[in-house]
Amino acid sequence: MELPLSQRHFWTLLLLVVSNLLLWEKAAAILPCLTKEGGCMDPLVETFNNTINRAVTIRSLAEQMDEEFFRNDGSSIYFRNFLSKMIREDYRSFRARTHCHSSITNPPDWGTEHTNIATEKYLKMLINFVGAWDAPLYNLVVELSAMDDVPETILSKAKEIEENNRELLDDLRWILTKAYPTEKTQENFPSWQHLPYIKSSLRNYKFWAIFNLSSCLCEDIYFTIFHLKALRCRITRENC
Ligand SMILES: *[C@@H]1O[C@H](CO)[C@@H](O)[C@H](O)[C@H]1NC(C)=O
Ligand SMILES: *[C@@H]1O[C@H](CO)[C@@H](O)[C@H](O)[C@H]1NC(C)=O
Repeated sequence: MELPLSQRHFWTLLLLVVSNLLLWEKAAAILPCLTKEGGCMDPLVETFNNTINRAVTIRSLAEQMDEEFFRNDGSSIYFRNFLSKMIREDYRSFRARTHCHSSITNPPDWGTEHTNIATEKYLKMLINFVGAWDAPLYNLVVELSAMDDVPETILSKAKEIEENNRELLDDLRWILTKAYPTEKTQENFPSWQHLPYIKSSLRNYKFWAIFNLSSCLCEDIYFTIFHLKALRCRITRENC
């Protein structure tokens, strides 16, 4: 049945109006926030909060994963041996974390050096500190996936840590471009010299590299959370 012309007109017009309304609503939703009242949030603060939540997630996963390595039948003997060896022979370096590949990129965390560092430089140092974990975590996941006696609970934590670290890094890059739009990014991630160890077919070497990584990560993530909070305060002036 054909509609009379006038009625067809009416429906077309109505459709046009409705679709325009929908479009308008969508545009309104993505308009930038002009005010914080009425639940409008500052995307920088929101992204900083996101990064902190991610880092807290990594901290909890890394601690659980480390514990599981100490408990798991396949790895516990290695982990116990390395820990006692380290406490015996290399305790100072262990505490100072000088053996951690990331330690050279860790921004200063106290004293005048910490206070005087320019915010932009500080943010870039943190990007390198977090980025230092990109390749090692990737390789950790690859190697754990290839071993047939690694329990799913450990593997899934390693994967989740790697993913969160990658997203955290991307969020920091975004923050840098928003806070310093004209700045060129110069990333310089320290290389991880123990890659051949984690790839070794000798379990002792493999677990040695994994042990070092796991204990360094558990320490580093505390610094990451500290620096993220310090930078959120400096850049957004929120939650100081
Ligand atoms: C960010 O986190 C702080 C502290 O947890 C909270 O007080 C604030 O409301 C959060 N802001 C946004 C925009 O998420
Ligand atoms: C593990 O860390 C110790 C320092 O405590 C270092 O001497 C050793 O070379 C590291 N080994 C691997 C495989 O990462």
